[in-house]
Amino acid sequence: MADQNGGVAICPGSYDPVTYGHLDIIARASRVFDTVVVGVVNQPVRKPTTLFTAQERRDFLLQATEKLANVKVDVFDTLLVDFARKHGAGALVKGLRAISDFEYEFEMNQLNRKLAADIESVYLMASPEYSFLSSSGIKELATFGAEIEDLVPPYVAEALHDRLSRDAK
Ligand code: PNS
Repeated sequence: MADQNGGVAICPGSYDPVTYGHLDIIARASRVFDTVVVGVVNQPVRKPTTLFTAQERRDFLLQATEKLANVKVDVFDTLLVDFARKHGAGALVKGLRAISDFEYEFEMNQLNRKLAADIESVYLMASPEYSFLSSSGIKELATFGAEIEDLVPPYVAEALHDRLSRDAK
């Protein structure tokens, strides 16, 4: 993509944990932008606790994106727009599933735009097969021992079952 920032985009999120829905958006973004930096929020303000540490969430993403040559993974502890500037990014890429995502993303868009009007937010519609998928839904399924193998990478499914499965306790 031709822009002054060389086509660097950030795919930000908590990724607690990464799902095939996230990976679909990251892979599609990697075909549009020269470089994609997956930004893992260390301590999300609106989600005070995470199931996995930032290091664990980052490691899952590193493994899941290892075949995507133009995708990097980095953890951040700052405002998203400052993280974007650090990487020279001109765009923030987010996935949109349903109308329910719109309100939250609209607010984030206005906040980020107020802080940095030159960094554009770009939205990719979720692929239909992942339009119902969320990290919190996956955690709920894993807690009750449901099959999640077609929704998250195998090592994530294993970690979720280890940490959450009520049968394992
Ligand atoms: O929905 P997520 O995955 O928790 O999204 C996290 C993020 C950083 C993409 C979202 O909170 C956002 O766009 N925040 C903008 C305001 C900001 O920079 N907050 C600091 C990091 S929480």
